[in-house]
Amino acid sequence: MSRPLRIDIDLSALRANVQRVRTLAPGCKILAMVKANAYGHGLIPIAYTLADQVEGLGVACLEEAKLLRQAGIQQKIVLMEGFFSQEELRSVSELELDTVIHTAQQFRTILQGPVSKPLSLWLKINTGMNRLGFAPELVSEIWSNLTACSWVQTLYLMTHFSSADLLDKTTTLDQMQYFISSTHRLNAQRSCANSAAIIAWPQTHADWVRPGLILYGVSPFAKTLAQDYQLKPVMTIRSKIITIIQVRAGDCIGYGATWTAPSDQRVGIVAIGYGDGYPYTVQQGAKVLLNDQHVPLLGTVSMDMIAIDLKTQPQAKVGDSVILWGKGLPIETVAQATQRSTYELLCGINRGQLIRTYIKETSR
Ligand SMILES: Cc1ncc(COP(=O)(O)O)c(C=O)c1O
Repeated sequence: MSRPLRIDIDLSALRANVQRVRTLAPGCKILAMVKANAYGHGLIPIAYTLADQVEGLGVACLEEAKLLRQAGIQQKIVLMEGFFSQEELRSVSELELDTVIHTAQQFRTILQGPVSKPLSLWLKINTGMNRLGFAPELVSEIWSNLTACSWVQTLYLMTHFSSADLLDKTTTLDQMQYFISSTHRLNAQRSCANSAAIIAWPQTHADWVRPGLILYGVSPFAKTLAQDYQLKPVMTIRSKIITIIQVRAGDCIGYGATWTAPSDQRVGIVAIGYGDGYPYTVQQGAKVLLNDQHVPLLGTVSMDMIAIDLKTQPQAKVGDSVILWGKGLPIETVAQATQRSTYELLCGINRGQLIRTYIKETSR
């Protein structure tokens, strides 16, 4: 047996989540976020599956876009952070990529052109996120310069929300209002809504929605689960018990000896740890799923192992499967137990190249 840690990626769940987005945002085009290695799910298989399901794919950088083109993906691909040099802009044009534009430097580089093939640009407007984007008062001038540029073929307008997951705040509607008022004279397709806005703020849907998290079957809201929104988890992380030890009352477990056995009992050692992306901050008592039973973690997470409590599991044996998150154990509950975001958990787990990934369709 090789090390039993594995990732299961359920492509049927991914497709079902796309359909869910279609229901939530009827008539909208979908720009599916596949940046950060498709939120840790694996860029290429996710992109292949999404290619005929959505109208475009959003990546963080040119390198990710190149991987998609090399894999034969002909779909619209948008560089969400834009390009970083004139040379990158040339590649954007040659590879027929779309790019976000959000800085004066990018704007100047475009005007300097010309490029081999016409450009499709997503003009990003900062309405309050204060991360990327032009100030709304600059938009008209930038717009006129770009529309006058013969190698700019299509211009889209976009903004990004800072707090769409905070349902008791008006921030999202304030941002939307700002976006509308600064762009209403401009004739272009528009895009504003991320996952949380797709679910909670239908008035922000515009022409293109930009789901990330919900495509992967994770709730964008605190204290709720994917199933509350009829979403299905795409990633399941599982490993196995690799050994079972018998401890005596008073024995401690793991680094720092943070857990002391109250009585004689069995403890299972499972092959996963922070080296695989399972967070060190998972706290004692957080649950894993062993043979469909919730079982608590004991002590601290090691680099490639955790200890679990087998007191209530007399049948448990070496080789039994343990789910860390995914089917049967929502990632949202693990995130809550770790004080980490679900985004961070997803993106972090795929770091180890040694983890085997199984890509499958759900059997019906
Ligand atoms: C510009 C932009 N739009 C949309 C998204 C998708 O966000 P979410 O995963 O919350 O749907 C992201 C995510 O990073 C983003 O940067």
